[in-house]
Amino acid sequence: MRFVSTLKDVPPYEPGARIEDVSARYGLDEVVKLASNEFPLPPFDEVKAVIAAGIDDLNRYPDGHCRELRDALAERYAHDAGGVVVGNGSCELLLLLGEVMLESGDEVVFADPSFLLYRGLCMRRGAHPVTVPLRELTHDLEAMLAAVGRRTRMVIVCNPNNPTGTYLPAADLAAFVEQVPEDVLVVVDEAYNEFVDTDDWQDTLKLPQRHENVVLLRTFSKIYGLCGLRVGYALCSAPVREAVDRVRQPFNVNGPAQRAAREALRHGDQMLMRRRQTAELRRRLQTALTAIGRPTVPSQANFMLVGSRGLRCPHEQVFETLMSRGVIVRDGAALGLPGWLRVSVGTQHEIEVLIERLSRLVPA
Ligand SMILES: Cc1ncc(COP(=O)(O)O)c(C=O)c1O
Repeated sequence: MRFVSTLKDVPPYEPGARIEDVSARYGLDEVVKLASNEFPLPPFDEVKAVIAAGIDDLNRYPDGHCRELRDALAERYAHDAGGVVVGNGSCELLLLLGEVMLESGDEVVFADPSFLLYRGLCMRRGAHPVTVPLRELTHDLEAMLAAVGRRTRMVIVCNPNNPTGTYLPAADLAAFVEQVPEDVLVVVDEAYNEFVDTDDWQDTLKLPQRHENVVLLRTFSKIYGLCGLRVGYALCSAPVREAVDRVRQPFNVNGPAQRAAREALRHGDQMLMRRRQTAELRRRLQTALTAIGRPTVPSQANFMLVGSRGLRCPHEQVFETLMSRGVIVRDGAALGLPGWLRVSVGTQHEIEVLIERLSRLVPA
């Protein structure tokens, strides 16, 4: 077969190992998965009920414009509904933004390491990734600004950053956006926004209202526990929404996903409770890791980096050893951070299992 010439450079996305596979491979009764930054609990009960109640509508196409969900998002964020676009996960929206912005030879500036999909979105358009190393594991906005050149069409800032969990204050982002040329799209990927435990966690909302070239990406995959349904959204300007609308497939967001997301938004109190609980569990995880001598990186997301050097086995083997003992985490080497593991904030029980398995690897 002869495929498009850009295809050979597109890295396939490698998801974390599946619980079923690990349990069969090692003959384990209990496997804890802390690898994919998922929320450890199911969707809200009210959301589950809405999904179940909609089964009989599956013979109909869903609303191709996601009107109700877009209106609800617009109301929630005091944003014009003409600047809200919904996607089959925020991953789809990232790829669609690449489609409307990038041509062969264009440049995209983003941090290294950051979310792996950013490289893929460049490669499939024949665009060049211009990566800017993190400074102390945090976005180096000054260097990113310096990397914006004549061919730059897009800048992506992941906040909190995956895989480091580090957070940029909204004021720093606002100052950054002011300095980016107006014809360069600034995508602020806020997949983990709801886990941020600072006063300014909603302050970026004004950016797409002030700047036509700013897009905020958020998702129902994380705190709402809906990653299995695939629904994310962008808050942007009307021209960006119109551009994406031209290229997205018809009915890109399925009916159960639209209804579930709509219902999830009605339960802001439960979302805020999950936010508080995650912050508390994140603190406990960090304290427990410190107690067994593991370095960590302060995180504002629902995951955390944990140092894997200086254990009983070489750091390259820690990931596999933990997996063989029933804990799936993400090997930092696969994310551009050898010597680290990325660990999702699970339930209290899952944290205890992780700490117990990890402490067995700590030298006496
Ligand atoms: C930084 C970042 N952006 C976007 C996504 C994609 O989320 P969604 O499930 O909405 O496609 C993820 C998923 O892990 C992520 O880590």
